[in-house]
Amino acid sequence: MKHLPLFFDVAGRKVVVVGDSPAADRRAATVLSAGAAVTQVATAEAADFAGAVAAFISTGTEEGDRAAHRVARAAGVPVNVADRPALCDFILPAIVDRDDVVVAVSTGGASPTLATVLRGKIEAALPERISALAALARTFRAQANALISRPADRRAFWRRLVEGPAARLVLAGDIAGARRVVLGELDGARRGDGAPGIAHIVGAGPGDPDLLTLRAAQLLQEADAILHDDLVPPAILARARRDAELVAVGKRKGHVRWAQRDIEAEMIRRVRAGQTVVRLKAGDPFVFGRGGEELQALCDAGLLVAVVPGITAALGIAASVGIPLTDRRHASSVTFLSGHAAAEGGTAGRTHVVYMGASEAASVRDRLLDAGVAATTPVAIVENGTRPDERVSTGSLADLARLATSHHSLGGAGPSLIIVGEVARLATPTAQPLLAKVS
Ligand SMILES: C[S@@+](CC[C@H](N)C(=O)[O-])C[C@H]1O[C@@H](n2cnc3c(N)ncnc32)[C@H](O)[C@@H]1O
Repeated sequence: MKHLPLFFDVAGRKVVVVGDSPAADRRAATVLSAGAAVTQVATAEAADFAGAVAAFISTGTEEGDRAAHRVARAAGVPVNVADRPALCDFILPAIVDRDDVVVAVSTGGASPTLATVLRGKIEAALPERISALAALARTFRAQANALISRPADRRAFWRRLVEGPAARLVLAGDIAGARRVVLGELDGARRGDGAPGIAHIVGAGPGDPDLLTLRAAQLLQEADAILHDDLVPPAILARARRDAELVAVGKRKGHVRWAQRDIEAEMIRRVRAGQTVVRLKAGDPFVFGRGGEELQALCDAGLLVAVVPGITAALGIAASVGIPLTDRRHASSVTFLSGHAAAEGGTAGRTHVVYMGASEAASVRDRLLDAGVAATTPVAIVENGTRPDERVSTGSLADLARLATSHHSLGGAGPSLIIVGEVARLATPTAQPLLAKVS
């Protein structure tokens, strides 16, 4: 190890930045984001360093850097000089900054480019809301340490908080749900009970492992058990944690195929036993995937369940073979049908998903009514879908125009999509991308 990695608390302390180059400005901004009192000067004099705990130098010339370095060292202040490792007392690592969670990468000055590439990989691997998880742990730290006296129980509690159901809820944006889970687990830990686990109904995409979502890939690394369809290829199952139990529920069990209700019962049994279960399905779990029934079964059992979308076969294949499904020169709609339904006419049993329709909701309504869709058909307007500010309004087709007006009068200039069909009745009216229920 060439340098000792330390995290230095500079909050409220004086840090000097010498130079007005872009590199100096970047350093000033970084140090400022850690709460330091930054003094930035174009050229340095001894008095500038009085009381400083560190100095960053990037004047743009070698002569200027060396002069500033001499003054800072004479004042006894540790120095970093940009791109001049021989003059550095400490180096500035490549940083992944997610509030409380900070990862620093160094190659000992050998290759800043390698450090940047590694930082990019770590950025991609870290869930977007990892800092919210750290904040959750901070909230319960004192309480948990006071309530759980045995060190082994305490370790198990913390491990479960950062890897278990509460963590999955936080990472999916449901902070309130996560807090409820932690409170339940604190109670259980105090009484010595085992807490239930969580099920994730996950889309595996069309088959190329690189088309897994980041969340799916993370969950494959966390699951205790993966219940998968036979359409999920070995290359994707190879991404699972080495000691995860793989259960092929699409395959024949003896001579009998797993029935849907047996799969649901197996998920419930494992979640009740405290496992993190991934139910891995080809494509997207809600597109011809029976994911809705599994979600319902877990909710009815009062257990935690979350859905992770995947790239449905139609979209994966369209990209793979170069068919732009709604190329505006040729098509303005696309329909996903199951083979059984392909020969059926009419609109009953169809789901229409309308892109770019919210600003012309009255005309969307009229065209669907003209096409024979019943006025009582449920509709859902979903704005900013999957984002923290997701918002859902539900009603019936006859009401669509009024619904769109009232939806937009409450804020919403974000992107929205209209879902029309009996399934729109199932939309949860919350801002959470996660459907979860705590027993
Ligand atoms: C029960 S459906 C599951 C669909 C899946 N939930 C989805 O969103 O793609 C199974 C059908 O999806 C289609 N399918 C799934 N993966 C495919 C792939 N990689 N290539 C072609 N078709 C695929 C086939 O028509 C297959 O019979």
